[in-house]
Amino acid sequence: MNRIGILTSGGDAPGMNAAIRAAVRNGIASGMKVFGIERGYEGLIDGDIYEMDVKSVADIIHRGGTMLQTARSERFMTKEGLDKAVMMTQSFGLDSLVIIGGNGSLTGALTLAERGIHVECLPGTIDNDLGYTDRTIGFDTAVNTVLGAVSNIRDTSSSHERTTIIEVMGRHCGDIALYTGLAGGAESVLVPEIPFDINAICVKIIQGRNRGKKHNIIIKAEGVEIDSFELAKTIQERTGVESKVVVLGYLQRGGSPSAEDRLFASRAGFKAVELIKDGIYDRAIGLAGNELVHYPLADALKIPTKAATDYLDIIDVLS
Ligand code: F6P
Repeated sequence: MNRIGILTSGGDAPGMNAAIRAAVRNGIASGMKVFGIERGYEGLIDGDIYEMDVKSVADIIHRGGTMLQTARSERFMTKEGLDKAVMMTQSFGLDSLVIIGGNGSLTGALTLAERGIHVECLPGTIDNDLGYTDRTIGFDTAVNTVLGAVSNIRDTSSSHERTTIIEVMGRHCGDIALYTGLAGGAESVLVPEIPFDINAICVKIIQGRNRGKKHNIIIKAEGVEIDSFELAKTIQERTGVESKVVVLGYLQRGGSPSAEDRLFASRAGFKAVELIKDGIYDRAIGLAGNELVHYPLADALKIPTKAATDYLDIIDVLS
């Protein structure tokens, strides 16, 4: 009988619970013993591992966050931490781990695979920054959350004829900014992948004002190397238009997962167990269009992330 462990690691993302539920329920339906590992690699190191049943994952499919808790584990990056994690996996008799997380977490999974632990990986992060998959679990919900905020901010920005910089998450990947910029009708979008031109932004604001535009929405990914408040100050000085900043922060990480995230998470969690049943290990599960795909983890992690920077041209013309 297989004994599998499930953990979530790194920043939480809406849909992680749906993925846990799917893996737990398909595992049990397949005759496996399923164990939840708390707080990601931290819990693996500490042996915070408990057996789950069908009821353990009741009433979570619609909830944001992760019922298993999560952490960014510094200890797991050390040799001692990794040794302990391997040792705990063996002592609990876990023959495979289902690991749900972003880039760092999946890189951690690879180090476990290199030590002989079977892993199946699901991309769980709002950042959409894993190159091997078109989507990560949580991205769609985060985009919709940001869009709601953009609409509200646009109302007040119009009333007061202001420019508002909305800072969104995405340390290395501009997708949240690009998708919400296009879908939210922003005037400008700043992403870490492409250098921005302050003159072009200011000219756009002045031209917009001259043709009667009441608001300017600039969406800036947090990874862009300029402080948002400094940027607002510069824009205000150069254009004479009052400029404000809203940092959306962690509100982007919470909330009930969208249909898209629940579907992907449920399919991917289910698939992880199928792969274990078939003896296909160390895979990264993702989406190519709407097709569920899986690749060798080591290969998947080598594929560079490609943000939708082609949206920038569309945004420029449409705003
Ligand atoms: O990795 C997802 C993410 O939301 C990033 O966009 C953001 O920079 C980071 O997590 C913040 O993480 P923490 O919870 O460690 O502050």
